[in-house]
Amino acid sequence: MKKITIAIDGYSSTGKSTIAKELANKLGYVYVDTGAMYRMVSLFAMQNGFITSDQFDEKQLISHLETIDLGFVFNAEVGFAEAYLNEENVEREIRTLDVSNYVSKVAAVSEVRQKLVKIQKKIGQDKGVVMDGRDIGTVVFPDAELKLFMTASANTRAQRRFDELIAKGEQVSFEAILENVVNRDHEDTTREDSPLVKAEDAIEVDNSNLTKEEQFQLIYDLAIKAIEL
Ligand code: DC
Repeated sequence: MKKITIAIDGYSSTGKSTIAKELANKLGYVYVDTGAMYRMVSLFAMQNGFITSDQFDEKQLISHLETIDLGFVFNAEVGFAEAYLNEENVEREIRTLDVSNYVSKVAAVSEVRQKLVKIQKKIGQDKGVVMDGRDIGTVVFPDAELKLFMTASANTRAQRRFDELIAKGEQVSFEAILENVVNRDHEDTTREDSPLVKAEDAIEVDNSNLTKEEQFQLIYDLAIKAIEL
């Protein structure tokens, strides 16, 4: 069967990675979580004191970009590839609210974006990938055969993220999560370099009122149609 590129963009916590992972598994494609890459660079900046609650030393981060090695290693136990920063498994650390609060600032730095987009293009050069992020259909793979743009109300998204973090044992308040979701929407859509926008040829999927099964069926059918075209 012909292999295609599937780009899934959209707002934070719209369930992009869940659907992208399921779709990749079902199609036998590689799944790439580009948000994890921006989160890893943010964690690196935090660990080195380049970003704190009151300052962001962009220049220091830019001058250390070459020393950042990002990778993914498949873990059969969990069924997906986990994030590795300089050979250390950071899958858990990158999902904390702390990282979420800094990541949009780090993702607005053009030099960071250039480095990550280059890696993403390379991973997807042979097609057969499902990649999720904010600029996949617009910048990374503007020629992707299938582009999806995921949306859901801010409340629905905050509730989902809240449930996820609580299940992982993090102590967070719903209000703090909602604030993070709203702030990130604003920062991701208003940054100068590659802001989050729906590609003209992307199909919008609002999943506020869809069950996981309904959503999967809808998207799987779209993928099969695109593959058979
Ligand atoms: O998908 P996520 O919530 O894990 O992404 C974390 C942040 O990274 C998000 O707020 C914006 C940024 N990001 C980006 O700018 N471009 C991408 N392709 C993916 C994520």
